[in-house]
Amino acid sequence: MLVQLENVTVKHDRHVILKEISFTVEAGEFVNVVGESGAGKSSLLRLLYMDLKPDTGTVAVGEYTSHSITPSEVPYLRRKLGIIFQDFKLLEDRSVYDNVAFALHVTGATSGEIRKKVVTVLTQVGLSHKRNAMPHQLSGGEQQRVCIARALVNEPFLILADEPTGNLDPGTSLDILKLLLEINHKGTAVLMTTHNYDLVRKAGGRILQIKERQIREVQLKQ
Ligand SMILES: Nc1ncnc2c1ncn2[C@@H]1O[C@H](COP(=O)(O)OP(=O)(O)OP(=O)(O)O)[C@@H](O)[C@H]1O
Ligand SMILES: [Mg+2]
Repeated sequence: MLVQLENVTVKHDRHVILKEISFTVEAGEFVNVVGESGAGKSSLLRLLYMDLKPDTGTVAVGEYTSHSITPSEVPYLRRKLGIIFQDFKLLEDRSVYDNVAFALHVTGATSGEIRKKVVTVLTQVGLSHKRNAMPHQLSGGEQQRVCIARALVNEPFLILADEPTGNLDPGTSLDILKLLLEINHKGTAVLMTTHNYDLVRKAGGRILQIKERQIREVQLKQ
């Protein structure tokens, strides 16, 4: 089990966002998380990368649990997760290569190891020819590919993607989904939040819907 939430309640201020929710994610799964704007999708992801603590209940991710993780351990957990955001969060003053390499410098890898890993993941996302470009010279889809490369470079056991296609056109969204599915087929679990039911249909995998502070497994009507 990669992820286990047990009776998790989370509040923002005094407002209950998620109420006593429980679910698990197993190795290799592709999980779609759907729900209206404001339902709590990003909050759920923040719980998983431990940017948010549950008010009650327990969040377990990999070898860490919310009640025992220390602040100094949080970066180690995040290094084992690949986190992807809708708005990319790339370092604008660094090249594509350096954006991806940045995540490896802190791990103490040698420059030879870093180079090999960065080139490998940039090739995997189809961007090795853009390694010297700056983020502003890339299209939205290309920027998102850089983010995926950056997420992959530490060989995460789980990818967390918060509306990774929210700012992309339908064709580019599908390309990004295909890339995430390819990564998943190689064995990495993926948890992706989205508004886009069309994409969820194409993704297959599990669907967790957040509604009225609850989370439940649903099937889509074809
Ligand atoms: N830092 C915060 N402080 C107070 N309230 C917050 C905070 N972050 C989120 N909220 C509230 O919690 C609720 C859930 O927010 P969240 O961002 O998790 O929703 P979401 O499903 O990701 O929405 P969207 O689809 O628009 O991204 C919303 O009502 C939001 O206003
Ligand atoms: Mg959100």
